Amino acid sequence: MKVVVTGASGLLGRSIYERFTDEKNWSVFGTAFKRAQLGLNKLNLLNKKEVSDMLNTVKPDIIIHCAAERFPDKVESDPQTAYDLNVGVTAHLANEANQLNIPLLYISTDYVFDGKKSPYKESDEPSPINEYGKLKLLGEKKVLSANSKNIVLRIPILYGTVETLEESAVTILFKGLKKSQQQNEFFKVSNYELRNPSNVKDIAHIVFKLTELKLHDVNDINGIFHWCGKEVLTKYDMVVKMANAFGLSLDRVIPVTEQIGVQRPYNTCLDVSRIEQLGIGYHTHFDVGIKSVLAKWI
Ligand SMILES: NC(=O)c1ccc[n+]([C@@H]2O[C@H](COP(=O)([O-])OP(=O)(O)OC[C@H]3O[C@@H](n4cnc5c(N)ncnc54)[C@H](OP(=O)(O)O)[C@@H]3O)[C@@H](O)[C@H]2O)c1
Repeated sequence: MKVVVTGASGLLGRSIYERFTDEKNWSVFGTAFKRAQLGLNKLNLLNKKEVSDMLNTVKPDIIIHCAAERFPDKVESDPQTAYDLNVGVTAHLANEANQLNIPLLYISTDYVFDGKKSPYKESDEPSPINEYGKLKLLGEKKVLSANSKNIVLRIPILYGTVETLEESAVTILFKGLKKSQQQNEFFKVSNYELRNPSNVKDIAHIVFKLTELKLHDVNDINGIFHWCGKEVLTKYDMVVKMANAFGLSLDRVIPVTEQIGVQRPYNTCLDVSRIEQLGIGYHTHFDVGIKSVLAKWI
């Protein structure tokens, strides 16, 4: 079996790429752009012809579409580029895949909801409150209108092995925590919005299992699926867990309740029963996962 993974150089894509690479029945064609190295294939997804040529040459059994602009602040500062990548590329990929009869699994986000009445089921009406959520929702619509049998997987804030601490909205907190130890600086961190962080390895496992079920023609593996971690944490709670893991002081960490940066939904907890009923849900306890990810940054 052959899978194309877009965004295979990114935080989540790397983990999905590795998950499929570990399986001997699978060959993986990972695409990247600026970081196309170590077996990845350089492909500018904004170039429609390059994308069409790649699909016609590789002829995968399924496409996992991870590539996106996923920093809400960057989406707000350059909305056109974000639209082209998150919506335009997704539409082209979904249409091409449909013509070639290739199913597509699109990675989406809990930010399609406004955060006012969680937990959200797959059938709940999305109502994004920032541009990033709006574009990802438009991407979902392109994927499902190209073919209603495609898959949309909505996931929460992610952490995992990072190339820089800034790469994940979770691991960047460790940078602030460390600075607060070293330079007598105060670190203000949100103790307001509630999140259910997931380890990228958990998501990669679920993506792999969904893919296998889909290709084995198990009924009903199409449409929208939800997954999120089982612990409800504010960013301040995450920092407390990081400090405890490495015996660091919280003396100069200040929990705040005002909004920092772009507007974000309050509580985006997702109802995960559809995935749990398939028996493929997976959750790494945050204490364990974050300690292992941050060990090399201490
Ligand atoms: N990270 C989170 O907390 C989070 C939470 C919920 C949902 N998601 C969703 O999960 C998916 C993966 O997110 P992520 O965190 O792994 O993103 P990421 O680390 O920012 O990676 C983005 C990927 O997109 C690729 N890319 C960007 N522009 C491209 C272009 N023009 N042509 C080809 N590739 C291009 C990048 O390749 P290069 O770097 O090689 O250029 C990179 O591999 C996204 O759909 C995101 O919306 C993420």
